[in-house]
Amino acid sequence: MDGNGRWATAHGLSRSAGHEAGLRTARDIVEAAVREGVGTLTLYAFSSDNWKRPSAEVTALMRLFRRALIGEAKRCLQNGVRLTILGRRDRLPSSLRHTVEQVESLTASGSRMHLRVAVDYSARDAMLRAAAAMRGENVTRDGFTELLARVDHDAMPAREVDLVVRTGGEQRLSDFLLWECAYAELLFVQKMWPEFDAEDLAEALADFRSRNRRFGLAPEQVAS
Ligand code: IPE
Ligand code: MG
Repeated sequence: MDGNGRWATAHGLSRSAGHEAGLRTARDIVEAAVREGVGTLTLYAFSSDNWKRPSAEVTALMRLFRRALIGEAKRCLQNGVRLTILGRRDRLPSSLRHTVEQVESLTASGSRMHLRVAVDYSARDAMLRAAAAMRGENVTRDGFTELLARVDHDAMPAREVDLVVRTGGEQRLSDFLLWECAYAELLFVQKMWPEFDAEDLAEALADFRSRNRRFGLAPEQVAS
């Protein structure tokens, strides 16, 4: 979800107004993803490096996350959406952590779509923590994927990423699910996140479906 700040500046608004607009987009995209039959949707809301932003912006974002979780919980429940937070939780304000736990248990039975919101998330830190948890044991690829899910409180079974859509025009992963994206299809869109809509999501999914995924195999092997 990149581009809230730039979108706000371009419209003569404060960065917080941009994040508010980003929340409205997130709400629309979650509902659109449910309609499109997406199984798991992960929204990258706050990376571990985002703690380095001005403290006023960080505080405003933490407040926004808490308000958003409280506001969206009922809607998720009605739509059959299971909502979980991906990332380490020990550095979140305790009020937010408490809300996260409440919303996760409230929506735990949602089976139409799993919505993961990545907050204080860093793929590299997760890999370090997962490697430490291995304690020298040999671990398979699937085993490591499970370990990563465990260190970031993710639901089991852990999944690999099929498609990454990054708004805001930048073409990079910014420490997002680096292990799970080994064979992810990447799509970079120019629109800022507050401008991204259900039609853009439908186009992204159509683009994804048109791609030929080979996972290292030769084209004729994939065809058969
Ligand atoms: C994305 O918007 C949301 C968060 C990282 C919280 P940005 O805040 O990165 O917006 P830009 O990149 O400055 O436009
Ligand atoms: Mg940004």
